[in-house]
Amino acid sequence: MSDDAQHLHPEAVARWELNGGTWRVSTVTQTSAAVELRRCDGGEVVDRLTLTQPRDLCWARTHALAHIQGDTVTHHPRSSQWSRDLGITAPIVCAPMGGVAGGALAHAVSRAGGLGMIGMGSAGSVAALERELAAFAAAHQAAGEDDADIPLPFGIGMVGWGIERDPEMFERALAARPALLSVSFGDWVSGRTPEWVTRARAMGIRTITQAATADEARAAEAAGIDSVVARGLEGGGHGDHREPLGSLLAEVIGAVSIPVLAAGAISTAADVRRVLDAGSAAAWVGTAFTACTESLVSPAAREVLIAAHGRDTRVTRVFDIALDRPWPAHFPERLIDTPFIVKWHGREAELAANEQAKQEFRAASAAGDFTVVPVDAGLGVDHITRVHPAAEVVRELTPVE
Ligand SMILES: Cc1cc2nc3c(=O)[nH]c(=O)nc-3n(C[C@H](O)[C@H](O)[C@H](O)COP(=O)(O)O)c2cc1C
Repeated sequence: MSDDAQHLHPEAVARWELNGGTWRVSTVTQTSAAVELRRCDGGEVVDRLTLTQPRDLCWARTHALAHIQGDTVTHHPRSSQWSRDLGITAPIVCAPMGGVAGGALAHAVSRAGGLGMIGMGSAGSVAALERELAAFAAAHQAAGEDDADIPLPFGIGMVGWGIERDPEMFERALAARPALLSVSFGDWVSGRTPEWVTRARAMGIRTITQAATADEARAAEAAGIDSVVARGLEGGGHGDHREPLGSLLAEVIGAVSIPVLAAGAISTAADVRRVLDAGSAAAWVGTAFTACTESLVSPAAREVLIAAHGRDTRVTRVFDIALDRPWPAHFPERLIDTPFIVKWHGREAELAANEQAKQEFRAASAAGDFTVVPVDAGLGVDHITRVHPAAEVVRELTPVE
């Protein structure tokens, strides 16, 4: 490394990014003490930048490993201030998907330059969170001893009724000091500021929630939340499936002054470009990451995801009812149909009272039988064509300008 080390504030790095355009990265050091970037012109080094601050290192390391393999980096010219504040380089957040997004997936996404999130859904618990935080740490260690000291940003996502039921899980999440804390599917209607927002903000942890309407986004902003996801009806998993992303995003951006992310069937770089063009700070992507090598999904469920089409999905409560899961009725889920779902959709009350049908479903669930048990996915599931590492998904989703 050269001696001309510079201690740069992240904003200074950001300016370098904008002014520098394309960089040739000469070295990603093995000592974790510094990363040197060189700008070359016709083979001549015309400029160099040495990053030594942990946050800058994190930025450089994730960018370097994800996008260049020792070659040329093209910075994303529209990387938002929100992304920069989090220390991420790709405008991609992997949604906190319960049962899918554990520590290994979160690590792989963050290492690739996006923001990986650990998801605690209906089966969330302190033990599950501990396990996935440990998986994140283990993946970080396994990435190379020299990497281990460099902090990678990551997020944790929970559901509102989940932290009410299990406040200890919330305490554990705070103690992990994620770069971003998401609590979705809570109550924005009452006008009360949720305690989780106050607590997280007091610790300097950035907060986010998902909104299905402009009113919800307004209420979240009034409650002091830092950013909001406009989640369209196309999205996979649970939610309030009301409005297509296109119109919802415009309404939410018009309604609040905090950064707005976009979610709902974002499956290609063109989709990401479109939501960035519309003014969102980043894309919040779920389904596209479900079949990744690092996800918690079983091989059989991955096959279902690969084979499925968006037209095979529906929004229903049948899965929740069959397993007696405590999801509020106004948050049904988008999932891939199975004959069981088709049979009982529209007959939910009957299913709730049918112990034998529920017992059969529970047995199928315990056996991992995905001819009966559905897999959650959004309308963008058509774009899942193979099992591949999350870093590839981040790369494929990141628009090349
Ligand atoms: C399998 C799966 C599980 C999900 N679990 C959660 C969850 O536990 N908490 C949450 O806030 N959102 C969850 N979501 C919703 C995502 O946060 C996001 O809204 C959605 O994935 C975006 O749409 P997309 O799937 O089309 O990308 C889940 C989504 C999927 C596909």
